[in-house]
Amino acid sequence: MPHALIVGGTGMLKGVPHYFTQHGYTVSVIGRNQNKFEELIFSKGIHGFINPIKTDYSDYEKLAKKLQNAISVYGPVETAISWIHSTAPEAPFVIAGILNNQNIKTKYYHILGSADVQPDGQNKKFETDIEEYENIIYRKVILGFVIEDETSRWLTDTEISNGVTDAVINERDTFIVGTVEPWEKRP
Ligand SMILES: NC(=O)c1ccc[n+]([C@@H]2O[C@H](COP(=O)([O-])OP(=O)(O)OC[C@H]3O[C@@H](n4cnc5c(N)ncnc54)[C@H](OP(=O)(O)O)[C@@H]3O)[C@@H](O)[C@H]2O)c1
Repeated sequence: MPHALIVGGTGMLKGVPHYFTQHGYTVSVIGRNQNKFEELIFSKGIHGFINPIKTDYSDYEKLAKKLQNAISVYGPVETAISWIHSTAPEAPFVIAGILNNQNIKTKYYHILGSADVQPDGQNKKFETDIEEYENIIYRKVILGFVIEDETSRWLTDTEISNGVTDAVINERDTFIVGTVEPWEKRP
């Protein structure tokens, strides 16, 4: 069975594991809260196996250990979706480093807020460094906003999950969910 990883897959990305289970993947999901895991595992549409990795991703040592353990049990991760708060700046490096050491190429979908389109976006260092990871196929998914009539609003969880799933299906290097233009209309 192929193996997918979704970091933050019990939050706004909770609609994404369905796509992978329907395609025969074992889906490892990283989060902390047991109730959120149960909600995901028992939600309608999950037909396959979810492997809950209950850990705080800002504890880098534990994160590395638990991810390595999941890989040893369920095999190398083919596709990773990663939504990580800026409170754990090293977590993307820890995860990408482990995935890069597998003996396969891994698609790494980095989920980023709309500010990433600005020239001083906080992700620039990671983006430069990841070019050196020869087994990582790096892709960015930028969460924009929605313009409706005269106003604008942020995306809903469903729009985010559907957009991220579209990004996986479309395999583009950069995929924007909603829009980031005109920037002045940002909510
Ligand atoms: N452009 C946009 O429109 C946009 C962009 C971003 C967010 N949003 C909205 O803002 C709302 C809140 O966003 P959010 O950032 O809180 O995302 P969220 O996806 O609702 O929650 C964060 C996810 O990451 C996990 N997580 C958080 N901290 C963690 C840690 N230290 N270790 C391990 N797992 C951790 C959470 O699980 P645990 O809590 O169990 O750990 C959860 O699965 C969302 O509902 C979304 O719709 C909109």
